[in-house]
Amino acid sequence: MSTTQPPASPGPARSAGANPSQPTIAKEGEREAVDKAVPPAKVNGKPQVGPTGRPLRAIPDPPLLERHGPAQVLAMCNQKGGVGKTTSTINLGAALAEYGRRVLLVDFDPQGALSVGLGVQPHELEQTVYNAIMERAVTADDVLRRTKIEGMDLLPSNIDLSAAEVQLVAEVGREHTLLRVLQPVLRDYDYVLVDCQPSLGLLTVNALTAADGVIIPLECEFFSLRGVALLIDTIEKVRERLNPKLDITGILATMFDPRTLHSREVMARVVEAFGDTVFDTVINRTVRFPETTVAGEPITTWAPKSAGAQAYRALAREVIAR
Ligand SMILES: Nc1ncnc2c1ncn2[C@@H]1O[C@H](COP(=O)(O)OP(=O)(O)OP(=O)(O)O)[C@@H](O)[C@H]1O
Ligand SMILES: [Mg+2]
Repeated sequence: MSTTQPPASPGPARSAGANPSQPTIAKEGEREAVDKAVPPAKVNGKPQVGPTGRPLRAIPDPPLLERHGPAQVLAMCNQKGGVGKTTSTINLGAALAEYGRRVLLVDFDPQGALSVGLGVQPHELEQTVYNAIMERAVTADDVLRRTKIEGMDLLPSNIDLSAAEVQLVAEVGREHTLLRVLQPVLRDYDYVLVDCQPSLGLLTVNALTAADGVIIPLECEFFSLRGVALLIDTIEKVRERLNPKLDITGILATMFDPRTLHSREVMARVVEAFGDTVFDTVINRTVRFPETTVAGEPITTWAPKSAGAQAYRALAREVIAR
């Protein structure tokens, strides 16, 4: 077994990531870093309390894998819009790839934000995940494409996918369509991350039926807990009726602002409600994330030393360890 560790510090920033059709913005090193580093697990031998109010647990870098697959499928899911599903899919995926995991990202939102975030122009695509789920002759392999991140591939989508929600209703085994598409490629990857759209419709049910686990990004904001009961109810129904192996992998607090009492109060309520299901890793609110969307690359390559990149690496370690 290989015991080689992946690099503890990120590799150099890649300049190839910028999207030529989009405005250029200053990269890390070209502007003053505003992010603070992730606090160490211990200071002077004393354990540090993390934003969740629990002691920070240091999770070591995972060992490199000797062989790959079969993939664990994780659905990034919350019917509330704008909570960080797509951002977390891209950056968790890229962080897992840095640790030598083979990753497939599935854009399962007709908005195509995941594809855009990786520098792909959705309207220019001839074939997307829509073709793979609706046309029997089209396989995932036909549609998937490499990304600029080594070891990370993408099943892109565009607005075509919005028709699938209606068309699938008439199909036999309609809830298992995505699972059928993914099955032949599972052996090629360690993780498949499915970026869901903000709804609990048939596409999301397909993602949950294909998944081993669900990651629920939750914005640290007052109304964020509204609707989570409905989401968990949906997950339980899918587990009972369609996919007995489905589990909640974790709840990811996003857009946390450590300076505001409000953010800390919401965080406390989330931990009170969900306990250890909540990841230790918390994603702070920072303008660096909107920047990465413009750049068309993950924060791990756009601003490799930023707190945001470190946080998604910590999340990747937690996901591998769970
Ligand atoms: N930690 C963060 N700090 C600041 N902005 C963020 C953060 N995470 C995401 N954003 C920004 O918030 C917006 C919404 O994020 P994102 O698209 O990831 O959410 P989503 O849940 O996928 O949204 P939708 O439900 O519309 O698919 C984006 O502009 C993104 O750049
Ligand atoms: Mg999204």
